[in-house]
Amino acid sequence: MRLKRKPWGEEVLQNNERYLVSQNELESQKLLDFLSFDNLVLEIGAGKGDFAIQMAKKYPSIHFLAIEMQSMALAYALRKVQEENIENLLFVNVDAHFLFEKISSYKFQTIFLNFSDPWPKKRQNKRRLTYPSMLKEYYNILKEGGRLIFKTDNDGLFNDSLEYLKETNFKIVKIDFSYDGQDLYDALTEYETRFRKLNTPIKRFIVEK
Ligand SMILES: C[S@@+](CC[C@H](N)C(=O)[O-])C[C@H]1O[C@@H](n2cnc3c(N)ncnc32)[C@H](O)[C@@H]1O
Repeated sequence: MRLKRKPWGEEVLQNNERYLVSQNELESQKLLDFLSFDNLVLEIGAGKGDFAIQMAKKYPSIHFLAIEMQSMALAYALRKVQEENIENLLFVNVDAHFLFEKISSYKFQTIFLNFSDPWPKKRQNKRRLTYPSMLKEYYNILKEGGRLIFKTDNDGLFNDSLEYLKETNFKIVKIDFSYDGQDLYDALTEYETRFRKLNTPIKRFIVEK
């Protein structure tokens, strides 16, 4: 969902450069330094940042790179961390489709996709973050044994994504059609909170390289 620009958004984006790599900084030392850590986790479509912020606090020795293409969503995320000192968290304002050429030589231990946009119309399916071409990009940047973990409320997207997986070399570790949210290596997202309140079953798969 497209977020409305707020008057405070630009100021928050400008004043929190410590946590943010903007679209024109994809070659920056800040990003390269972060990518040089050995224990990297990627979240794509981070929204207002709740998942990455909670996970970074829970796992201080893991480095969380959170990708989000809407700068206003990142302004909300940055507002939550601006008074904090979280060294293992970096947000990148970019469309994930343009990210892989920049990070193809780095390896991640986990990639999280949380409540990705469903793009239900056939002609839009290609934009899905679980489309086979994207799954293949994730496979390339995962370490051996690294995992892709996908949660969604959306049945159509979930079932199609299980089909897309068949076009890849990923091994299925776990499929839940009603995930209870209790895994330690996980955190509630904004959308998940919303859907759990409505008692919508949360679907999740974990696959491994
Ligand atoms: C439905 S929201 C879910 C946000 C959050 N993950 C949650 O669960 O609360 C999907 C988010 O993914 C972002 N997104 C969609 N496609 C993207 C892409 N290609 N690259 C980066 N972000 C993307 C959208 O801007 C939006 O903020």
